[in-house]
Amino acid sequence: MKQRPASKTAALLGFGLPALMLLGAGTLQAQAADSITEQGNAYLQLMNEMGGNPADFNIDDGRKLWSEKRGPKHASLQECDLGLGPGVVKGAYAQLPRYFPDTGKVQDLESRLVTCMQTLQGIPPKQAEKAHFAKEGGNATLLENLALYVAHESDGMKIAIPQSDPQEKLAYENGKKLFFYRAGPYSFSCAACHSETGKRIKISALPNLTNQLAAQSYATWPAYPNSQGVARTLEWRMFACERQQRWPAPKFTSNAVIDLIEYMGVNSNGATLHTPTFKR
Ligand code: HEC
Repeated sequence: MKQRPASKTAALLGFGLPALMLLGAGTLQAQAADSITEQGNAYLQLMNEMGGNPADFNIDDGRKLWSEKRGPKHASLQECDLGLGPGVVKGAYAQLPRYFPDTGKVQDLESRLVTCMQTLQGIPPKQAEKAHFAKEGGNATLLENLALYVAHESDGMKIAIPQSDPQEKLAYENGKKLFFYRAGPYSFSCAACHSETGKRIKISALPNLTNQLAAQSYATWPAYPNSQGVARTLEWRMFACERQQRWPAPKFTSNAVIDLIEYMGVNSNGATLHTPTFKR
């Protein structure tokens, strides 16, 4: 048998094999990454299909709170106008954010709840907003329970966020600008993490929020992220993502947060709402 020249053997052992091994490891790593994302998605899908969600308790609490007489005016929220007229809860969330002539502002769900607590119940906005996000693993706040209830009343309905008022169009345009705006110590924009398909950070899949798949993300909030151990709304998601972005924490119900929600929401128009769902 002909001997392989020593130099070639050395080359194979010295460079070829490790190179091959590296290549193999690279492919394996890519496969592992895909399967981690797939497994993660499959487990969430399974949980969502099983029905029942811990956030159902928040919906029940929110429903009770809605008709409870509270605040200095000792009134309930039953006459709150969420955009479809006083007292109409069904379908209202599917059309939020929207422009409200009485406040002269484009408002999302939480912002509108704060307005109703102020006008109907006499609760000052500072007090209404005081505890807006629950602690991790803690109990949902009053605002979160109300939001979970109102949003669930649009479950199964199509998202139809209006764009007829100039302020609504402006909110969309500002939200879009903000989504692609790079800033902070790493020059991150929302798009830096959310404009490619199939990306992930550790086991968190990073949904592409710039194409037709965006609605699959938007339309599944408010949700119950398992890692949080408490139900969450889109206001919280914006707060948490701006933290991911190494930006300063945005103010609750600020224009920046509402504009981002408006941008993603309008892009999701026509999609069916499913809330609450499970998230990682
Ligand atoms: C550094 C990366 C990073 C940046 C920047 C970032 N996000 Fe996120 N985003 C994430 C991660 C991680 C998740 C959670 C994915 C999961 O559920 O496991 C997420 C989730 C989301 C979700 C929910 C997706 C779903 O399917 O439930 C939305 C909506 C979202 N981000 C919007 C934004 C917006 C708007 C911005 C800009 C203000 C932004 N993100 C900036 C990393 C980022």
